[in-house]
Amino acid sequence: MRVLGIESSCDETGAAVVDENGVVLSDVVQSQVDLHAQYGGVIPELASRDHLKNFGPVVRDALARANVTYPDLDGIAVTHRPGLVGALLVGVQAAKGLAWARGLPLVGVDHLVGHLLAVFLRRNPDAEPPPSFPFVALLASGGHTAIYRVDGPRAADMRELGATRDDAAGEAYDKVAKLLGLGYPGGPIVDRLATEGDASAVKLALPMGHDKTFDFSFSGIKTKIAQLVREENRPKTEDVCASFQHAVTTVLSKKLIDAARKEGVKTVVLGGGVAANRELRARTKALAEEHGLRAIVPDFASCTDNAAMIAYAGLVRLRAGERDGWDLVASSATSLPRTTRKGRGPR
Ligand code: KG4
Ligand code: ZN
Repeated sequence: MRVLGIESSCDETGAAVVDENGVVLSDVVQSQVDLHAQYGGVIPELASRDHLKNFGPVVRDALARANVTYPDLDGIAVTHRPGLVGALLVGVQAAKGLAWARGLPLVGVDHLVGHLLAVFLRRNPDAEPPPSFPFVALLASGGHTAIYRVDGPRAADMRELGATRDDAAGEAYDKVAKLLGLGYPGGPIVDRLATEGDASAVKLALPMGHDKTFDFSFSGIKTKIAQLVREENRPKTEDVCASFQHAVTTVLSKKLIDAARKEGVKTVVLGGGVAANRELRARTKALAEEHGLRAIVPDFASCTDNAAMIAYAGLVRLRAGERDGWDLVASSATSLPRTTRKGRGPR
């Protein structure tokens, strides 16, 4: 099977072709970072307009790089939730048009399910073998931060064990970078500067580090940093980055491992843009090893937004015989049940 995946939920226009083994035949990502950087964050209407402009060339490029044409495909998968609705509408409507014109089945994919399955993508022949179910996954991105127990590849097999009560981890990175005047998106910049700083030079409490739930909170640490940067003897930027990164990655990795141990699950997985963070990757691997668990960390390109993970999650649905109709809608909310405090029960 070969599936074309389409992603337009935020500020990346993506198209990719993936086969049933998760082998990535092509993965094209057209980032809008330069467009939004001048505003310090994503401007929804500009994102929609840019998806509209980039969609055609990105899809053509993905097919050409995979060396396939439409008759070689078994279906089209498109992100239809969660995300910026105007941005999602562009991808969903364009995917419907393609599926209709080419007589291909269409499936909508929840972007978060895509992130949770990104670990199955194979970008090179000697990639680490994918996990078997069940596993416990930390999904940390710009819009979401939660821990899931994943018993299978379908949305119905995924259960939220804990989630952020305020900001997402990536959002906290972006806001801290903005406070420090470092540009957008902040994650990769703070990650790099942290390696040049001394984490012990600035004291920051571990956010919800001693709490027994698998919930997170990142707004307090952000406020603390906002105070620090206003002080007369403002600490060195590199030291603030190192201390912030130390606190955030310590809590994320610790709660992930604690959740797996509580669930009696032997494998942990990372997903989402923040999973590209070097310290989080290293810490999670070390802590997992210490507790006799296996940690699987996707390639960098599989962590940040991409259409290959959407193609793979769509392939799982198509293989199970599922199809969506021409009435497929876009939604700002995830389909995954949110059972923790922020979610206030299943909905
Ligand atoms: O998954 P993603 O590409 O988009 C969303 O679905 O939100 O995640 C983007 C987020 C941004 O907040 C960005 O700052 C963060 O991931 N990010 C990182 C790193 N690379 C990207 N955060 C920390 N360290 C990184 N190396
Ligand atoms: Zn994402």
